[in-house]
Amino acid sequence: MATIREVADKAGVSVATVSRAINDSGYVGKEAKRKIMKAVKELNYKPNEVARSLYQKSSKMIGLLLPDIANPFFPLIAKGVEDVAQEKGYMVLLGNVEGDSHREQKYIDFFSQYNVSGVLSASSEAQTFGKGIPIVFLDRVKDRKNFFVTVDHFKGGQLAAQTILKSKPRKVVIMVGPRHVDVAVDRLQGAESILNESQIDYELFETRTYQAEDAEKTAEELLNNFENIDSIIANNDIFALAIIKEALKRGLRVPEDIQIIGYDNTPFSNFMNPQLTTVAQPGYEIGYEAAQILFKIIDKETVHKSVSLEPYVIERESLRKVGEQKNG
Ligand code: RIB
Repeated sequence: MATIREVADKAGVSVATVSRAINDSGYVGKEAKRKIMKAVKELNYKPNEVARSLYQKSSKMIGLLLPDIANPFFPLIAKGVEDVAQEKGYMVLLGNVEGDSHREQKYIDFFSQYNVSGVLSASSEAQTFGKGIPIVFLDRVKDRKNFFVTVDHFKGGQLAAQTILKSKPRKVVIMVGPRHVDVAVDRLQGAESILNESQIDYELFETRTYQAEDAEKTAEELLNNFENIDSIIANNDIFALAIIKEALKRGLRVPEDIQIIGYDNTPFSNFMNPQLTTVAQPGYEIGYEAAQILFKIIDKETVHKSVSLEPYVIERESLRKVGEQKNG
């Protein structure tokens, strides 16, 4: 790979002049600039990004912290972020936090060492970063004083409850996501605001995690704990799919014996048989909008504080059609 010294020699200028021309960091005469760009092209010179970032104390990289890349909801966010980063000529460093604050802190330190120009975080752990690195929170937003993009999860919880009420449930279980994650509490409050207005009997099933790896175990626990339920508001699609699988394994019919609504609209939710009815949240747009805000901060442009996107229901096959009541 060509070096900056070879470019300087070919253009007949000093290394410092080449560096100024490439980093646009000072005066370079028109003729010298022309010779330098010609040499860069002929030698196919690629600036050393690490060296450039050390010199400029910022790099063409941004950091992205996600809670669980095994959950297909989060790659949707990552794709939205990456599409904006590509447009801006930036690369994305991904940190998969797995709900572990020590792991998150290691990624934060790593991002600082590599002089990332900014960070996007969907993790609800540390929520604190080194000074001077712009950060935008997305999805799980604990502190609303920062820049953030999220979804109206209170409304999402209401939509889940309103949708399941349409199918005339006899007894509903609400799966409560981990209460330290703000989205879980917002959704619970939304669902209860609707169910408390109805005459329908419901119970809460507390979960400690949204992690995909815990879905099957949690599905077994839920179906062991509640025998005579006919309706479930799941805390996300992965857990809803695990419950459908466990219910079918136990000889229950879905939705006739037990109906279920998920949350997220992950890519596989319509591949299941029966296809999952769910409260969709626009994962791609969450990432895209958050990255747009971050780059406005990096480029020192005017920024609107926050964006709250709307959830919406996608009705598929895992809810009983009105009139398709549970037998007996
Ligand atoms: O599926 C994982 C859940 O955690 C999603 O509902 C999303 O909102 C994230 O916060």
